Amino acid sequence: MEVPNHENADLHFVFFPFMAQGHMLPMLDIAALLSLRGATVTFITTPFNAARLRPSLPVHSSISLVALPFPSSASTGLPDGCETVDALPSRNLVRAFFAATKALLAPSLRHLRDHLPPPSCVITDVFLPWTREVAREFGAPRLIFSGSSCFAALCVRNLRAHGVLARVASESERFVVPGLPHRVELTKVQEIIDAAVTSDGVIFNSFEELEREYMNLYRETTGKRIWAIGPVSLSDKDMSNTINRGRKASIEEHQCIEWLEQREPKSVIYVSFGSIGRLNPPQTAELARALDASGRNFMWVVKSGGGDDDGLPEEFKVEPVTARRMIVRGWAPQVAVLSHGAVGGFVTHCGWNSVLEGLCTGVPMVTWPLFAEQFVNEKAVVDVLRVGVRVGVERANGWAGEALEEVMDGGTEGGLRRERARELGERARRAVEGGGTSFVDLTRLIEFVSEHKS
Ligand code: UDX
Repeated sequence: MEVPNHENADLHFVFFPFMAQGHMLPMLDIAALLSLRGATVTFITTPFNAARLRPSLPVHSSISLVALPFPSSASTGLPDGCETVDALPSRNLVRAFFAATKALLAPSLRHLRDHLPPPSCVITDVFLPWTREVAREFGAPRLIFSGSSCFAALCVRNLRAHGVLARVASESERFVVPGLPHRVELTKVQEIIDAAVTSDGVIFNSFEELEREYMNLYRETTGKRIWAIGPVSLSDKDMSNTINRGRKASIEEHQCIEWLEQREPKSVIYVSFGSIGRLNPPQTAELARALDASGRNFMWVVKSGGGDDDGLPEEFKVEPVTARRMIVRGWAPQVAVLSHGAVGGFVTHCGWNSVLEGLCTGVPMVTWPLFAEQFVNEKAVVDVLRVGVRVGVERANGWAGEALEEVMDGGTEGGLRRERARELGERARRAVEGGGTSFVDLTRLIEFVSEHKS
């Protein structure tokens, strides 16, 4: 356990994350890292999220969680209690959610300014471009947290360079990105690019060794300062191993681990689609068929709320835990599961946190992106890093089965893929250790804020 120091006690970092698990969790990890380096940290979110995150606070950190009221509003079109994207009953409401964050939170954020110690720096999420004006009023540098890779940030910028954005009629329209096999939906792309361009610098949850050439290209083409300080979930071991990471797991950690303990090394396929994504019933049925037909062990996190006809076979519902399968309803202790030696493959939607967690634990991936920049992350995993195999829904019948076999297979290609994943995991661990590239970039970030605070 790292002992907090008090060297940076005069620095006050204010965090304002987007309300989605995949954004709040890594920002909380960064907040904890800065707190361990002795800085004062305030983490602002809404009451529901503050309550959800409180158990994830590392014991020895001194982060102040501040809850801004998020009143329900008939005018936003959101049902009551939707304080996170994953609570939305349908993804069509994402746009309304974006609008509500601004309409409902901007005034209280402004008001908060008079009640906080003066910030040395405000770190807001790239998904909250409207915080630009509020941060300016705080009179402190505004840094952006980009919840994805530098590779993805560059791909998104390229959309504008290629004139793709100009051709997109609606914000949620799906469009073709040169070089990607799927049609992509990226909400609010233009504003997201502008949020980064107008900031004082961008923080990436990534590490130099993973995507050095893309980071150099980003620096060259944007002229922005960037800090790559990840994978941040590796930095505080106490926090990443807790079952309370972001949400109480629906199943006790020890149950998952006990089940894994009974399985052979690298024999289990772990399946999870993150905090927001859900497969539709035919996709669920196909994946169930493929997992069953593979003859391999699997642990599958299935979201509730899909209704009775959610595509999951009846026997999986009646008997969720057998010698070969474990169906977890809701939320699993993902980092602990991926870290277990029995896990040999990871079916993932390619949310950036999941990708990093797969890399850190050296587990090769079967990629099944669902929306947003997940398609771009898939390209990085499969074509650039070569540690994954696409499900590729255009494959004929049994599309998922082939990909599962390729990843779990112990043959030459499978072995090389696994070896590359293991090596990247090693590099990730070295990056966050003392003297590693991410460790040093965090020091540089603190120095930057120290020099630029008013
Ligand atoms: C969102 C976007 O969907 C994604 O495109 C973007 O890259 C990040 O923000 P999300 O879909 O939630 O993220 O996926 P992901 O980035 O993988 O984050 C999910 C986090 O929740 C991970 O840290 C994962 O470990 C954790 N998790 C998820 C659990 O601990 N248990 C679960 O059962 C599911």
